[in-house]
Amino acid sequence: MLLLGDTFPNFQANSTEGVINFYKWLGDSWGILFSHPADFTPVCTTELAKLVQLMPEFQKRNVKVIALSCDSVCSHWEWSKDIKFIAGASQEDKFPFPIIEDKKRAIAYRLGMIDQGELDSTDMPVTARAVFVVDPYKKYRLSLLYPASTGRNFDEILRVIDSLQLCDKNKVATPANWKIGDDVMVLPSVAETKGFNPPITVVDLPSGKRYFRKTKNPEDCNPDLDIMD
Ligand code: BEZ
Repeated sequence: MLLLGDTFPNFQANSTEGVINFYKWLGDSWGILFSHPADFTPVCTTELAKLVQLMPEFQKRNVKVIALSCDSVCSHWEWSKDIKFIAGASQEDKFPFPIIEDKKRAIAYRLGMIDQGELDSTDMPVTARAVFVVDPYKKYRLSLLYPASTGRNFDEILRVIDSLQLCDKNKVATPANWKIGDDVMVLPSVAETKGFNPPITVVDLPSGKRYFRKTKNPEDCNPDLDIMD
């Protein structure tokens, strides 16, 4: 079983942009792999259209996007016209990310992306809606696994990328429903809180334990703007 923090397995696959070696395609970027049950299905079409619209947000975060659906590359090319239409994009625009073909579900089985509760017309379990986030060191950092019947929330996907990238650079963790601009929590492993910048607020709790330590998002605090007395 693949565990968070493991090296994400490399694979080679045919895609709408030719044969892709996952590691080479990723280069030094973050990467996100979205799997889909099938081409020409309504929920998948809304999901990929949302991705087309959100591409600038992924690019801003240095995240490359790749999708996978079990049908053929020719089918993906045909389907991508519908996706662009639903996204409100021009048919002249290049489709902004590759879609992998996985006709025999080989990658889907290898990465545990199967929904046994949803069968296709040949009684084969469909590919689930998986999300895998891989960092620039090819480490597997996050997964979400949704059944075929439930479309994913792409605002949440951008939110977790923001959290992963912030927490990689600072000794903080993000609380429930955190979003950019909100306070963050200081990591339990941080013993010395004096001199922490931005300053830490320790919240008094009934237990008397001093673990609930909040601070401003360090990336919202530009030292150039500090006003000195
Ligand atoms: C869909 O994308 O609409 C879908 C695909 C497979 C099962 C259920 C829904």
